[in-house]
Amino acid sequence: MRSSRSDPDSPSTLNFRGSLSHPYWQRGLLRHPEQLKRLKDDPAFIQTAVEELLRYDSPVQRTARITNTEVEVDSRKIAKGSMVVAAIGAANRDPAHFSDPDRLDITRRDNRHVAFGFGIHFCLGAPLARVEGQIALGTAS
Ligand code: HEM
Repeated sequence: MRSSRSDPDSPSTLNFRGSLSHPYWQRGLLRHPEQLKRLKDDPAFIQTAVEELLRYDSPVQRTARITNTEVEVDSRKIAKGSMVVAAIGAANRDPAHFSDPDRLDITRRDNRHVAFGFGIHFCLGAPLARVEGQIALGTAS
């Protein structure tokens, strides 16, 4: 899979688009006017709203790794040197992890999504992106 700065799906483009463009953050809200109204009525929900929008409409939908050893996932062996794609967007809608996952709920608590990845490569810009999102929603809602 080739990726470059001009590729609209490249991680750098997605990060830039996800963190800095207000419409992307707000897409979920525009499709759910009742949630937008709730946020307008009570801006105290801005923090949980940002986390929920990251979960519900994850700007980075997938990432990939190459296995450096044979691994076993759910009794299935994956050979060394295989490319494994992690579907971040799907994980963030996992019904085993989130109640009513396809519902946008800006008041959702215990929202342990993986929109910024997980583990050693966890997004370095996450705190900045979160603040930007909160400012974007706060000034627009
Ligand atoms: C909403 C905005 C953003 C989202 C959803 C996002 C998402 C992600 C994800 C999922 C990863 C992990 C990729 C992987 O494991 O393969 C990642 C890594 C990274 N992000 Fe972000 N990101 C955002 C904004 C930013 C910003 C604003 C910066 C910098 C100012 C940034 C810098 C980085 C860097 C440097 C890494 C690589 C970390 C590593 O490999 O150790 N991100 N991001």
